[in-house]
Amino acid sequence: MLRSIVARLGRAVGLAKNGVPPLQPTAAELRLIARIRERKLTYLSDRKLASLVTTCRAIEESDLPGIFLEAGCALGGSAILLASTKRRERPFNVYDVFGMIPPPTQDDTQDVHERYQAIVQGQSKGIDGDPYYGYIEDLYEVELKLGRHREIADEVIYTGDNAHRSRASQADHDSGRFIELRSAKEVSDQIKQTAVPGELILLKSSSNLHLERIALAWTHDVKCWIPVCGKSESCQMCGLYEVPFEEHSDFLAKRKLARRRHRFRWLLGG
Ligand SMILES: C[S@@+](CC[C@H](N)C(=O)[O-])C[C@H]1O[C@@H](n2cnc3c(N)ncnc32)[C@H](O)[C@@H]1O
Repeated sequence: MLRSIVARLGRAVGLAKNGVPPLQPTAAELRLIARIRERKLTYLSDRKLASLVTTCRAIEESDLPGIFLEAGCALGGSAILLASTKRRERPFNVYDVFGMIPPPTQDDTQDVHERYQAIVQGQSKGIDGDPYYGYIEDLYEVELKLGRHREIADEVIYTGDNAHRSRASQADHDSGRFIELRSAKEVSDQIKQTAVPGELILLKSSSNLHLERIALAWTHDVKCWIPVCGKSESCQMCGLYEVPFEEHSDFLAKRKLARRRHRFRWLLGG
């Protein structure tokens, strides 16, 4: 299965031994890359961004199944590129430590240890004179100080306990361009009421807020809207998002019992 997907992917991006040259980014893709670069949102080279966008397009054109997953989005440049190129229905999970990276282990190579030492000694530089964002503890502050959300998005919604720290201008509040909502449920309702076809909505969250529920609510009947559940795993991993939070223990106990009964019946040959 994996081999067949790899072969299809190879054919899709023109890496197969069939003489097909690698894909080139379109003019629109190049413009998007330039905008991302101009706003200092990526650490990746133009070549890497071009490879990302053309690979993503080839995957979509070949109708390859699967989800996209970005392990380490930094300031979001590559995530914006992928999210703008992929089919809307394809899930895209974006992860990062959103702060100081954890130390390397003995399994990491020497260059990784050297890079980590440079980071902890305060020698790491950000993009074009910006501070290295891993040194700044509150990502909300970074994003807003640099005004990046505002430049790129038509509407910005902040939620969670830090929402009031956005420092959005009064003009943005008054025009409705900036919205501050208390809970993930309120954000979900707002997006459901106002989203238009073809719109790109970027959800960015610390893991405790579980904003993935907002995306899940388009395809599932999400009933678990507790602001903070205390779980670090995603809602997809937890799997209980269609059950109200206060019923989770009951639900799990009943499920366990049903499974036991099933196993018991099976053992008795029933
Ligand atoms: C090279 S940067 C990613 C570049 C990004 N894709 C772009 O367009 O600029 C690597 C990212 O991985 C994150 N990272 C590294 N180790 C991590 C870990 N153990 N857990 C979570 N994130 C990690 C860092 O915080 C950093 O943002």
